[in-house]
Amino acid sequence: MTISTLTLNDGNRVPWIAFGTGTALRHQDAQKPRFTHFDGAQMYENEERLGAAIKASGTPRSALFITTKLNRLQPDQTAKTALQVSLEKLGLEYVDLYLVHVPGHHAGRLKEVWKTMEECKREKLAKSIGVSNFDVAHLQEILDGAEFPPSVNQVEIHPYVWKSLQPVMALHKEHGIITSSYGGLTPLFRAPGGPLDPVIEKIRARLESTREQPVSIGQVLNKWLQQYGILVVTTSSKADRMREYLDTAKVPELTAEEIEAIENAGAQRYHKFSALFNGL
Ligand SMILES: NC(=O)c1ccc[n+]([C@@H]2O[C@H](COP(=O)([O-])OP(=O)(O)OC[C@H]3O[C@@H](n4cnc5c(N)ncnc54)[C@H](OP(=O)(O)O)[C@@H]3O)[C@@H](O)[C@H]2O)c1
Repeated sequence: MTISTLTLNDGNRVPWIAFGTGTALRHQDAQKPRFTHFDGAQMYENEERLGAAIKASGTPRSALFITTKLNRLQPDQTAKTALQVSLEKLGLEYVDLYLVHVPGHHAGRLKEVWKTMEECKREKLAKSIGVSNFDVAHLQEILDGAEFPPSVNQVEIHPYVWKSLQPVMALHKEHGIITSSYGGLTPLFRAPGGPLDPVIEKIRARLESTREQPVSIGQVLNKWLQQYGILVVTTSSKADRMREYLDTAKVPELTAEEIEAIENAGAQRYHKFSALFNGL
């Protein structure tokens, strides 16, 4: 199955869906050959396993998209030396995307950290650079005087936080920053029973009868994200579910009315599962 791509503001391309190694498979085997985009992080402490899985898969490096994220810096460490350690663990010469994981880890030093992220890009240790869990103020801090604007901001995105994300997403649009999501399935499986559930089920049934093949509630939310051009980072411990995620691209599109119904239902509730956004 060919996975469609999004184009970043530096011209590089990224597969629209990534397999996250940070939750379900934390500390476990990260080998999932059907995905080509793997979302890792220094914080997940499994870069060696991801590297071993990449090697074992036999997939050419150029066919893979590997992300890692900068953790809290140790004394005498920089974003560049931290990436060099990651590359060693991953057994790679470069990552495709290097993100600053949590702005609050670098309070008062964000600009300085971003300068070193830019160095990583210039020296081709990272093809693209970006951030995660950044709000408007964090982005403005690094955009001011930047040589390269971030290519991606990875944040928790689903209908129960959609309204609150509008200011940061407007800034993304202004600077061509790709919005990337994690926690996209939160309303369905971490906070079920809310106002979104009946809306999603109705859309799921409509898509299933249109498609004449099964459609899951998770696919409805991932389709909603895909239609916005959002880079989806998801995960699963189950092979069937991984196939289901990848199959989302083949699910028929939601109508404008369905999209509006999702956002109206989402606006009735605020629920966030990660404390990382807002720099905590
Ligand atoms: N940048 C950051 O700060 C940050 C923070 C958090 C996460 N992340 C990244 O995002 C990745 C994605 O994780 P996520 O948990 O946020 O993704 P998600 O898409 O919100 O949720 C995936 C989870 O949903 C479950 N699921 C899917 N369909 C289901 C169903 N029908 N019934 C019950 N459960 C179902 C899966 O469980 P099964 O295993 O049972 O399929 C899986 O654990 C992480 O691995 C990590 O790489 C980044």
